[in-house]
Amino acid sequence: MIDLEGAMAAAVAAAEAARLEAPPNPWVGAVVVDDLGEVLATGATAPPGGPHAEVVALAGAGARARGATLVVTLEPCAHTGRTPPCVEAIEAAGIARVVVGVTDPDPRVAGAGLDHLRAAGIEVVEGVGATAVTDQLAAYLTHRRTGRPYVVGKVAATLDGMVAVADGTSRWITGEAARADAHRLRAESQAILVGAGTVRADDPRLSARLGERTYEPLRVVLGRAPASARVHPCLERSGELGPILDELGARGVLQLLVEGGPHTLSRFVEEGLVDRLVWYVAPALAGPVGLPALVGLATSTMESLRRGHLVAVTRLGEDVRLDVEV
Ligand SMILES: NC(=O)c1ccc[n+]([C@@H]2O[C@H](COP(=O)([O-])OP(=O)(O)OC[C@H]3O[C@@H](n4cnc5c(N)ncnc54)[C@H](OP(=O)(O)O)[C@@H]3O)[C@@H](O)[C@H]2O)c1
Repeated sequence: MIDLEGAMAAAVAAAEAARLEAPPNPWVGAVVVDDLGEVLATGATAPPGGPHAEVVALAGAGARARGATLVVTLEPCAHTGRTPPCVEAIEAAGIARVVVGVTDPDPRVAGAGLDHLRAAGIEVVEGVGATAVTDQLAAYLTHRRTGRPYVVGKVAATLDGMVAVADGTSRWITGEAARADAHRLRAESQAILVGAGTVRADDPRLSARLGERTYEPLRVVLGRAPASARVHPCLERSGELGPILDELGARGVLQLLVEGGPHTLSRFVEEGLVDRLVWYVAPALAGPVGLPALVGLATSTMESLRRGHLVAVTRLGEDVRLDVEV
């Protein structure tokens, strides 16, 4: 008896390693297991132009893939993009059964991959580990379904909900571990957006520094950034948020990180455009003369309270990261 949930967890873990390099492709993981449940090979999506996770795993398994089970986080592709269709490679390898976490909403796939496999006489099992895979691929799935990026709002706040003290400064509310984690979050995002007020107050570079590597996501400023600002080169956009999200989606941005400030993030929240809040909380108190994390959200009654769904809690040194779907 093969532990399909366990094999899918291994595929999810493999996919995580591809998250930073795979976009605009999805970061997918795949595992080939034999009848006894032994893992023969593991694969993850290579950077664009390279092989998909299934093909990497099949190559690793070689001839032992014949009659084996392929466990893959996302439905295999059935179209020729930069690489040939994965379903053909699966068929050619003699895989007997394919287990997928979620189907691919990309209109070029959208069930066609599973149809192809079934037509080839391969058993297909759907929905194994779907919750974990849906969470891991949320940005990709949202982008393919809506044409817009998955929007993550990031806040670093004191225990009493302030993001800056009375003099307008905010460096640093959180400690080193939380800030390192925030750099990872930036690297996972293909674009980072801030309001012009934050550019004027903090002059952020908005790059992601991860160890030796520096990632340079697309930088977007709402309003005008001073010519001398470190955020350049950047896109400067004004006006309605919806068309800005459409433009970023068309540019291949799967995940947009909105880093504030409070006026900007509040507009995204009020317009229902935030998918997830990543809220770093420091055990510090700023008092009521600080700048609150959100402004303008008038909730005068309990009925109008905006309640989210807690997805994860992570301790980072002295600070806590809360992931909330809103
Ligand atoms: N701790 C944290 O997590 C964190 C994160 C970021 C910022 N902060 C702090 O927050 C403060 C700045 O935040 P803030 O709320 O005052 O400012 P902000 O949200 O960064 O920027 C607001 C400004 O952006 C421009 N803007 C926003 N939306 C626009 C749109 N749709 N079209 C055109 N322009 C638009 C306007 O610029 P104009 O005024 O030029 O018209 C607006 O005044 C600073 O103290 C900073 O240190 C803290």
